[in-house]
Amino acid sequence: MAYSERVLDHYSNPRNVGSFNQSDPTVGTGLVGAPECGDVMKLQIKVNPETGVIEDAKFKTFGCGSAIASSSLATEWLKGKTIEEAMAIRNTEIVEELALPPVKVHCSVLAEDAIKAAIKNYQDKNQDAVASDNLQT
Ligand code: FES
Ligand code: FES
Repeated sequence: MAYSERVLDHYSNPRNVGSFNQSDPTVGTGLVGAPECGDVMKLQIKVNPETGVIEDAKFKTFGCGSAIASSSLATEWLKGKTIEEAMAIRNTEIVEELALPPVKVHCSVLAEDAIKAAIKNYQDKNQDAVASDNLQT
């Protein structure tokens, strides 16, 4: 099966590969796997706690070209978005942007799931911070 030019672009020149320190309270980490193929995607966001804006995003994907391209694109889209805006990113937008064929739709689902998991991790961590602050007062 042929990959679209946009997939190849992200695949051969992936944006924002890497990772942040997971224990940084401003970092949210999402780690998800695709049951369809066993591919694994880690996506991280770094949030400005004052503004709630995602200032940076990184990923590491052990998977197919479409999964790598989907996560690369996702990190580009995440930067500069608020948590609410990031929650609104849909895998169908990734499918459209990368012209993914039907058998590769689940690769984009992985990216949407990873975004949601990273946001949830960030929110969980910061709720804990609030809760422990309350305990101390
Ligand atoms: Fe082999 Fe995704 S199915 S890398
Ligand atoms: Fe499974 Fe792409 S993530 S084939």
